[in-house]
Amino acid sequence: MATAIDTFNSHLLKAFPDPVILLNRSREVVFANQAALEVLDAQYDGRDLALSFRVPDVLAAADAVINGEALREVDVSLSVPVPRNLKIRIVRFVDPAAEKDGAVALMVFQDISSETLAEQMRQDFVANVSHELRSPIASLIGIIETLQGPAKDDPEARERFLSIMGDESQRMARMIDDLLSLSRVETSERLRPQEQVNVIDLLEMTRELLVGRAEERKMELEFDFAADIPALAGDRDELMEVFQNLIDNAIKYGREATAVNIQVKIAENIGENEGRHIAIAIKNEGDGIAADHIPRLTERFYRIDKGRSRKLGGTGLGLAIVKHIVSHHRGQLSIDSTVGEGATFTVYLPL
Ligand SMILES: Nc1ncnc2c1ncn2[C@@H]1O[C@H](COP(=O)(O)OP(=O)(O)OP(=O)(O)O)[C@@H](O)[C@H]1O
Ligand SMILES: [Mg+2]
Repeated sequence: MATAIDTFNSHLLKAFPDPVILLNRSREVVFANQAALEVLDAQYDGRDLALSFRVPDVLAAADAVINGEALREVDVSLSVPVPRNLKIRIVRFVDPAAEKDGAVALMVFQDISSETLAEQMRQDFVANVSHELRSPIASLIGIIETLQGPAKDDPEARERFLSIMGDESQRMARMIDDLLSLSRVETSERLRPQEQVNVIDLLEMTRELLVGRAEERKMELEFDFAADIPALAGDRDELMEVFQNLIDNAIKYGREATAVNIQVKIAENIGENEGRHIAIAIKNEGDGIAADHIPRLTERFYRIDKGRSRKLGGTGLGLAIVKHIVSHHRGQLSIDSTVGEGATFTVYLPL
């Protein structure tokens, strides 16, 4: 007769959020909870595990436990129905009552996909930062050696080298500022911005900051603002950073002697986000961006042409920051481009 504790145990197994499977001496599935149905093929009941879960390492581990080992752990990556990484623990039963029902091994699955992903991202990030800082530092070291040795008494070379040293150190400083700014936005991402900000004012301020750079490239900044754009709840500094990054990119990667167009209007439902939004579209003429690059542009350090972007002083962090700030504002960033014609970056901010 089932005791209260048996009933509790069987409910616990059923309700357990991770997959749990019991195997008998012949490696047949004698119990699988609801969560396990997602990893097993249909028709698993009472059949050899190999018929519903074909992962050789796991089957070998199950055999080892059935044949007397106390515990085996196996990490597996599955690609269907969705890619994920699982840690599977297989434990031998020592409970005679359970063995009477035929169960000798308990398999528990733990989904470690997000930990694996976070670890991978952390490693990539550290590798990227080190790599990006190494090249300016290597060039500084090289120059210092040259100035101490062969170019010691050459005032002309000294001038040239000092100017390169200036550029390289500024690039490093900018990169560190960008990294700090990224981590600041990441920490504040959960708190909703509270200030009332007027995006038109911010765009006017951005214009003043960047008009000189546009003139250097004989480019014009055209503004096209709808009347009566209301204020929205936002973070002034963060939104300034978004507009500066996007307009700076439009100038940097636009064709010389063309116009950059900045349009602000009201847009209704954007994708899954219902309600009214302010849409700020920044459009340039230029080479544009091939479709396969578009989804990757907001990754940290991602640049289409590393050499060109470096020459222009870029670190590849600008759009990563933009994306975080926009999502902090519960908004959306959309990127459209036709190769050979130009690109449009549109920020949608909910009202
Ligand atoms: N308007 C644009 N037209 C074409 N390519 C663009 C445009 N904006 C961005 N890109 C591409 O996207 C890449 C990433 O942009 P992002 O702003 O993140 O970095 P960056 O401009 O190289 O450096 P940073 O902004 O950190 O100074 C750029 O290197 C460039 O290749
Ligand atoms: Mg940029």
